[in-house]
Amino acid sequence: MNQSFTHAPVLEKEVMQLLAPMSDETLLDVTLGLGGHAKRFLEMTAPNGKLFALDADSKNLEQAHEVLLDFDNRMELRHLNFGQITDLEFPPLDILFADLGLSSPHLDDPERGFSFRTDAPLDMRFDRTSGITASQLIKTSDEDALTKIFRGFGELYPQAKRLAKTLAGSDVLTTFHLKAIVEQTFGFKAKSLMPQVFQALRIAVNDELRSLQELLRVGPTLLAIGGRMGVISFHSLEDRMVKHTFRSLTTPVKDDITGKVAIAAPFELLTHKSVMPSDEEIERNPRARSAKFRVIRKVS
Ligand SMILES: C[S@@+](CC[C@H](N)C(=O)[O-])C[C@H]1O[C@@H](n2cnc3c(N)ncnc32)[C@H](O)[C@@H]1O
Repeated sequence: MNQSFTHAPVLEKEVMQLLAPMSDETLLDVTLGLGGHAKRFLEMTAPNGKLFALDADSKNLEQAHEVLLDFDNRMELRHLNFGQITDLEFPPLDILFADLGLSSPHLDDPERGFSFRTDAPLDMRFDRTSGITASQLIKTSDEDALTKIFRGFGELYPQAKRLAKTLAGSDVLTTFHLKAIVEQTFGFKAKSLMPQVFQALRIAVNDELRSLQELLRVGPTLLAIGGRMGVISFHSLEDRMVKHTFRSLTTPVKDDITGKVAIAAPFELLTHKSVMPSDEEIERNPRARSAKFRVIRKVS
């Protein structure tokens, strides 16, 4: 494996403490990435624990497979977007884990077009076998659609419309071409806006919020009694979706008149506030800085 692609799994200690994998448990990691968390899961569920894992990116799956070769007889890897989780069948799960968004190679690999730091075709797809690239999205979107993307996914409120107007329907073939347009449009402010512009397009290209919605709808139903579901998110919209879903699954139904619990909640919250990386982790791995981790457990 290319050593520049090795990386520290985000919130590793906290994930292992809260999800607490035990011998022989069954797990599903829907964002395998380079297998960092998965390797720890497999170690902690020895000798007979079973890992199912998905990734939308076939290159990451291949690399993770190499990292996890020692556990080959205890894992099943699939090239699939977790937005299609209903297409698969699993035994009742003890752990379901998601570590959303990009992996390090997406940013480090100059061919993928996720980073404004290297010139590359403006692609941004996790799965390069399907869907449209960021370049095609810009070419085929009108001003309103792009404004929504920059506002909704990039939180670019005053700037979204102006940028959308400049870009809509145009041919922007490379990351540096997009970067130059953002610079021409916003002058000295461009540098601070660049991450949001790229993030917004990436989320739109990969339809990330719709996949997450599906995962949050189906994931909890796949858990065994006692099973834990944990999600690490890096974007406030994603965290809000996780927080609201987990809150509604862990809120009992109360009797309108007596105020007593009429139907107990089927899940309990293991993280009352989101868990965030320590200063020390952020210093070691600046990409972890916006991570938020939330966990529920199925009780009935
Ligand atoms: C942050 S990385 C995961 C890192 C992993 N936990 C590790 O320790 O190596 C996120 C991974 O999820 C994948 N991914 C993102 N969205 C996905 C989706 N909707 N379905 C499947 N995989 C997805 C990306 O391709 C990437 O490899």
